[in-house]
Amino acid sequence: MTEVIRTPEEMMQWRKKWSRKSVGFVPTMGALHSGHESLLKKAREENEACVLSIFVNPTQFNDQKDYEKYPLTWDADKQLAQKHEVDVVFAPTFEAIYPDGYKFKVSENNFSLDLCGKDRPGHFDGVLSIVMKLFNIVQPHRAYFGEKDFQQLKLIEDMAKAFFLPVQIVPMPTVREKDGLALSSRNVHLTAEQRQQAPIIYKVISQSQSAQEAEEKLKSQNWLVDYVKDLQGRRYVAVRVGEVRLIDNVKI
Ligand code: PAJ
Repeated sequence: MTEVIRTPEEMMQWRKKWSRKSVGFVPTMGALHSGHESLLKKAREENEACVLSIFVNPTQFNDQKDYEKYPLTWDADKQLAQKHEVDVVFAPTFEAIYPDGYKFKVSENNFSLDLCGKDRPGHFDGVLSIVMKLFNIVQPHRAYFGEKDFQQLKLIEDMAKAFFLPVQIVPMPTVREKDGLALSSRNVHLTAEQRQQAPIIYKVISQSQSAQEAEEKLKSQNWLVDYVKDLQGRRYVAVRVGEVRLIDNVKI
């Protein structure tokens, strides 16, 4: 049976009971899809206990509207947790997890300012701060993150190293729809027509000879391109398909 825990105190109590067992952790904002499921499967396989967190973290949203319309699918999420034999779903309130009201934060002043950090000021401070809090509460041996959010994954790996956190960060490949579109909780906001066009993003970044060529092709779709950039063997992209901001990346 999957247990639901709402407060850091109870979560830490639970963790104490499991002190001799290996704990795998999958942090999410809910609205779970097959991408999240791949992380849960791996965490279940590799550890004696498996913890999933669901918390739509307001401090990482620079756009209030984006936060307000973030999909909430609690009942379906709980069923998926049950299906994957998750031991605990940790779903705290804002007040419980930000007792200081976000006066303290974890901040990175280099890579976090590039790519998504340029278009979303403060975004990665919010991400790193919540992940640090969750790590301190859950104290996992292994934590699972998707390559879909490659910049986030790298920053979390570097934070773990910088602060000597006793956790192994496990990267997991991007799960895609059959037509190539990377799964994302935000895909539900696409209209039928936008959904049909969206796989072009993956096709274009995979097949173009240069970032510039990819950017031109994406712009010719009449989409607002936040960035296409090649960096350390990877091509990163963020595009606004109508109101929906989609990100993706591929190895080059
Ligand atoms: P969320 O967007 O819910 O994603 C949770 C985890 O699932 C992240 O590690 C993300 O990279 C992974 N994921 C999402 N889509 C995926 C896909 N198509 N294939 C593989 N993995 C995928 O990322 C966050 O939440 C938050 O920023 C969080 C880390 C929980 C901090 O609030």
